Amino acid sequence: MTNTTNNTILVIGSTGKTGKRVTDLLEKRGIPVRHGSRSADIPFDWDNPQTWAPALAGVDKVYLTYYPDLAAPGSVDAVTKLTELAEYAGVRRLVLLSGRNETEAEKAERVVMASGLEWTIVQCAFFAQNFDEGAWLDEVLAGTLSLPVDQVQEPFVDADDIADVVAAALTDDRHVGRLYELTGPRLLSFRDAVAEIGAAAGRDISFVSVPIADYTAMLTEYGLPQDFIWLLNYLFTEVLGSKAQLADGVQRALGREPKDFADYAREAAATGVWTRSV
Ligand SMILES: NC(=O)c1ccc[n+]([C@@H]2O[C@H](COP(=O)([O-])OP(=O)(O)OC[C@H]3O[C@@H](n4cnc5c(N)ncnc54)[C@H](OP(=O)(O)O)[C@@H]3O)[C@@H](O)[C@H]2O)c1
Repeated sequence: MTNTTNNTILVIGSTGKTGKRVTDLLEKRGIPVRHGSRSADIPFDWDNPQTWAPALAGVDKVYLTYYPDLAAPGSVDAVTKLTELAEYAGVRRLVLLSGRNETEAEKAERVVMASGLEWTIVQCAFFAQNFDEGAWLDEVLAGTLSLPVDQVQEPFVDADDIADVVAAALTDDRHVGRLYELTGPRLLSFRDAVAEIGAAAGRDISFVSVPIADYTAMLTEYGLPQDFIWLLNYLFTEVLGSKAQLADGVQRALGREPKDFADYAREAAATGVWTRSV
């Protein structure tokens, strides 16, 4: 038998940017968390559906984050199957992490909304933490971030704000049946964002806009799998900047303003993450 109580929350992606923050917030409040990770005691692996039912057993609520991205082929089938298993296991509530302006993500949202379970949808802009905890960290550390975007503007949202909204949705009935669109308080181009990071870190960091063909060739040279390259191309050409407007999800869910990118950059810089040697 697993060590659960009737208010256990499964956090899928509990080691990820938002999942680890949600886990911390819940555990600080004494709420039992089932860690949803491939390396957890009860492992959860999207690539191994046999792991899904054991991870859901005895769970009351689920923070559902799909990996690599709800925009990836297969995501809707996986979310559908997981939602069915959750219902069968007696799960009461699902909180889904989603993106903005992604067709596949919208299909997955509809699956969760139609499930009959309590639900909250949390649609997010690109995370600020991609620059210090994610895919762009290595290049920022090396001093030049090259991406296939130029003038597009994105209202980067802070993972702490996402986690606050998700933790509220998991613990407060007022958020049931709500869809929150979360952005930061400001639109920034990548050039702006990198300049703010450089200023906060006290380093020269440049941003270089590269043609999509060159970017794809670079990723191929690095040996990234083709489906991952497809996903990145899709995110950069179709999703990023496609909704260059602010949303009020943080304000509606929490009654406060979202964190500004400059505050994110200052806090991240203070950890030394952008000044350590490569
Ligand atoms: N990053 C953004 O800007 C952004 C914006 C909007 C929405 N989203 C959504 O956020 C989600 C992911 O965010 P992220 O890219 O920032 O990643 P992330 O949450 O920081 O990290 C990846 C997490 O996924 C887990 N993971 C990796 N492979 C897995 C697998 N096969 N099965 C189960 N878990 C696996 C990892 O856990 P273990 O390694 O411990 O197993 C880790 O906890 C996606 O659904 C995406 O659509 C992201």
